[in-house]
Amino acid sequence: MTNIIPHNFQLGKNDRNRHKGHHSFVIWFTGLSGSGKSTIANALEAKLYQEGVHTYILDGDNVRKGLNNNLSFSPEDRTENIRRIGEVAQLMVDAGLVVLSAFVSPYRIDRENIKNIVDASNFVEVFVNTPLEECERRDVKGLYAKARAGEIKDFTGINAPYEAPLNPEIEIDTTKTSVEDSVEIIFKNIAHKLHLNHE
Ligand code: ADX
Repeated sequence: MTNIIPHNFQLGKNDRNRHKGHHSFVIWFTGLSGSGKSTIANALEAKLYQEGVHTYILDGDNVRKGLNNNLSFSPEDRTENIRRIGEVAQLMVDAGLVVLSAFVSPYRIDRENIKNIVDASNFVEVFVNTPLEECERRDVKGLYAKARAGEIKDFTGINAPYEAPLNPEIEIDTTKTSVEDSVEIIFKNIAHKLHLNHE
């Protein structure tokens, strides 16, 4: 960027982390629509809240309806959707929050790019690997039926691709693992990253 000269602020991320009593990073949920990403993220946020952790959830409800309401589900727009979310997540990590992000994020390269934005050390990938048949059976929003009827083009899993993570930190199949157990599994995995200071 030309002519953008950073200001030297008095406080940095470390100060804000100290103030809040824990470290900040991103927990990135990826998986098909209806796989359970937001449900698990919500339950995990409640657990983190109990532990005194400062959090924020980014998901379709608060991002695609506002900041990204000019974006479609074309491959280019999905990439831009995820890029902006990565940048917002980075600001929130800098602000000292543990960010829980729940987006289909179907392209591997877009998820990899988040690691460049927030730093790999601040990125925990959770693959909510609920089988397509189960997501379609649940069809919470009725979108799979519409996609099968040809009313939605580019629907992930039906007529648009989903590229599964190759090396996720955590993988959960919600047909085998309950929401409570999922929260425990994720919490155990991230606990050491929090550096929780209860004093
Ligand atoms: S992403 O691919 O760009 O990461 P995002 O997570 O923001 O997707 O939005 C996915 C949600 O939008 C789905 O859970 C579903 O409710 C809805 N949706 C609407 N159209 C589509 C589509 N063509 N493909 C996938 N999800 C869609």
